[in-house]
Amino acid sequence: MAQSSPQQVGPSSCGATIAEMEKILTDEEVERLIDASLDARRNAYCPYSKFQVGAALLTKDGSTITGCNVENISYGLTICAERTAVCRAVAEGQRKFRAIAITAEMGTRFVGPCGACRQTLVEFGLDWEVYLATPDKRYMKTTVSRLIPDSFSPEWVTLGERQEG
Ligand code: THU
Repeated sequence: MAQSSPQQVGPSSCGATIAEMEKILTDEEVERLIDASLDARRNAYCPYSKFQVGAALLTKDGSTITGCNVENISYGLTICAERTAVCRAVAEGQRKFRAIAITAEMGTRFVGPCGACRQTLVEFGLDWEVYLATPDKRYMKTTVSRLIPDSFSPEWVTLGERQEG
């Protein structure tokens, strides 16, 4: 077999490809996305928890769509910042995402999206970036597939093909 030249793969150790490398955000894009999520976070409606969360999606065509958490006196109706952003994006005709930044004040840690939000993100792809950030702009980078491994994803499920009986 012919010797091939070295190829950088990554950034993850779980099967990342050159295609994934091309999707990586520049430092400037990351900063802009975190800033957008921080702006959105100021609008959080969270009179019950007082826990403000902001989210900003970067679409494949380069637009930024934000969301914040919106709470309700009927607590279970609360909508997280991530889902607000995704619903807003879809309503604007956007379904292809490169990344999402999610910001909250978590001390030395980073906000971990709830299970419902993880499932909402995976609806729109496994292989895109998630920046979990704090108001002082420290961030941890991960991906949707790492947040929700072995997920129930449209990529694996074919509905309505095989009907028994
Ligand atoms: N929250 C989000 O908006 N996103 C998260 O990733 C974690 C939790 C909101 C929901 C609720 O308004 C508040 O934070 C406290 O749980």
